[in-house]
Amino acid sequence: MASLNLFNLSFLLSLLSSSNLSLWPRNHGEKVGVFPPTCNRIECPNYDVIHTGNGFEIRRYNSSTWISTSPIDDISFVGATRDGFLRLFSYIQGNNSDKRKIEMTAPVITEVKPSDGSFCASSFVVSFYVPKENQQNPPSAKDLHVQKWGLTYVAVRQFGGFVDDDEVGEEAAALYASIAGTIWSDAIDKSYSGGNATEYIVAQYNSPFEFRNRVNEIWLTFDLEDGFAI
Ligand SMILES: *[C@@H]1O[C@H](CO)[C@@H](O)[C@H](O)[C@H]1NC(C)=O
Ligand SMILES: *[C@@H]1O[C@H](CO)[C@@H](O)[C@H](O)[C@H]1NC(C)=O
Ligand SMILES: *[C@@H]1O[C@H](CO)[C@@H](O)[C@H](O)[C@H]1NC(C)=O
Ligand SMILES: *[C@@H]1O[C@H](CO)[C@@H](O)[C@H](O)[C@H]1NC(C)=O
Repeated sequence: MASLNLFNLSFLLSLLSSSNLSLWPRNHGEKVGVFPPTCNRIECPNYDVIHTGNGFEIRRYNSSTWISTSPIDDISFVGATRDGFLRLFSYIQGNNSDKRKIEMTAPVITEVKPSDGSFCASSFVVSFYVPKENQQNPPSAKDLHVQKWGLTYVAVRQFGGFVDDDEVGEEAAALYASIAGTIWSDAIDKSYSGGNATEYIVAQYNSPFEFRNRVNEIWLTFDLEDGFAI
């Protein structure tokens, strides 16, 4: 771990710090279309914005490669994301089949499958965006798997501040609400088992030492059928 650079270290601390970050101001959901400033410094997957709606935007990612944990059962989004990130962090530091170091990227995403009952564990998969340099041949690791995303559309809601457990569900619900009744809602519903849309992804971009201009996102990924007029 001697080679930790400041960004890695600070990102790590961000995920290790407690879920109770009410000391810091929050900026709920009003942002739309902010390009995450982190992506000016480190590699992020490229995307095109194809529509800006009321409280959401639709992006197209041509393709992207992710390295992902197995599902983690936990009652806490923050706890599961921290555990998953620690494993991925050790992977990029060289704990992988090739003993190869990999550059830090953003965002780190957590796929959330909420439980049915309020006291049951939800299921979380935490993923690291693989830099282009490593996408052809990412090193393997026994407990991690590679996800190759083809052309993917994503409905995105942005929010500021430090993410906490209560907030993620609220922000996801707000994204669903903002999409309801728009031209996108059918395609999104279809991608989530016929309208039972409760799954979502949380994308985080910042280290804890950045108090301003923090950008987090809820993502709903979906497909568009050929012939859908954009
Ligand atoms: C977080 O801190 C606030 C005030 O400092 C407290 O009211 C709240 O109960 C805490 N929440 C958790 C989950 O610990
Ligand atoms: C995605 O692919 C389209 C068509 O090939 C291209 O026009 C566009 O620039 C690409 N977008 C990104 C972000 O790479
Ligand atoms: C390296 O990865 C293995 C899983 O493949 C894990 O059990 C171990 O804790 C990791 N080592 C470090 C130093 O994180
Ligand atoms: C959606 O949820 C309802 C109620 O929980 C269930 O009856 C139905 O089978 C679900 N539909 C799909 C496609 O999963």
